[in-house]
Amino acid sequence: MLDEKGFDLWADGYDSSVGLSDESDSYPFAGYRDILNEIYCKVMSRPGCSVLEIGFGTGTLAKRLYDQGIAVYGQDFSQQMIDIAKEKMPEAHLYKGDFADGLVRQLKERSYDFITATYSLHHLNDAQKLVFLKELYEHLEKGGMILIGDVGFETRAELEKLREQEGDAFDDEEFYFAAVQFRDDFPSLRFEQKSVCGGIITIERI
Ligand SMILES: C[S@@+](CC[C@H](N)C(=O)[O-])C[C@H]1O[C@@H](n2cnc3c(N)ncnc32)[C@H](O)[C@@H]1O
Repeated sequence: MLDEKGFDLWADGYDSSVGLSDESDSYPFAGYRDILNEIYCKVMSRPGCSVLEIGFGTGTLAKRLYDQGIAVYGQDFSQQMIDIAKEKMPEAHLYKGDFADGLVRQLKERSYDFITATYSLHHLNDAQKLVFLKELYEHLEKGGMILIGDVGFETRAELEKLREQEGDAFDDEEFYFAAVQFRDDFPSLRFEQKSVCGGIITIERI
């Protein structure tokens, strides 16, 4: 699994390597642009909202929202990713911190209309994801939404099928979503499959 230094090294070539996997419709980034685009549209349906982006990377999604006047907050643990994103979004509230330890203090001080996480939460195992998602839920405004775009499926059986299909290419150090496993804790959770291996999870605060 990549640690913060690994992501520092990946930062400069990140956008092009993701683009190649998306264009070839292959694991792990098949559907990447469509998934980010759909999340962008969902956020933009509430003009003037606030967004907390978890693992914002080079700011691919956050920058588009920022350019539309959305108040962007974020947490990432790679200094190199933060530097790239900060240059694109000088007024955004971007903080360094490992989300395995939860939100950093400054981000805990308010709630958000949307909390987005694209291709980042698979760095937590399922038990860690549950703890963190519960924390994030507490920082949603009423009617607010957590929007997760990532490698994932509705069921674990589908995820296991991907593992078989990909063989050695499957990254055993990443923990992809099987949405059904989180529904007991988040009854409002919805999952939409968007590509051969990617989807969007929506959790609304009701
Ligand atoms: C695959 S990139 C995704 C970036 C961006 N969200 C996107 O969709 O292109 C994963 C990002 O999550 C960050 N990340 C991974 N594990 C993290 C952790 N434990 N705490 C904070 N950030 C983390 C990495 O530094 C990286 O910027």
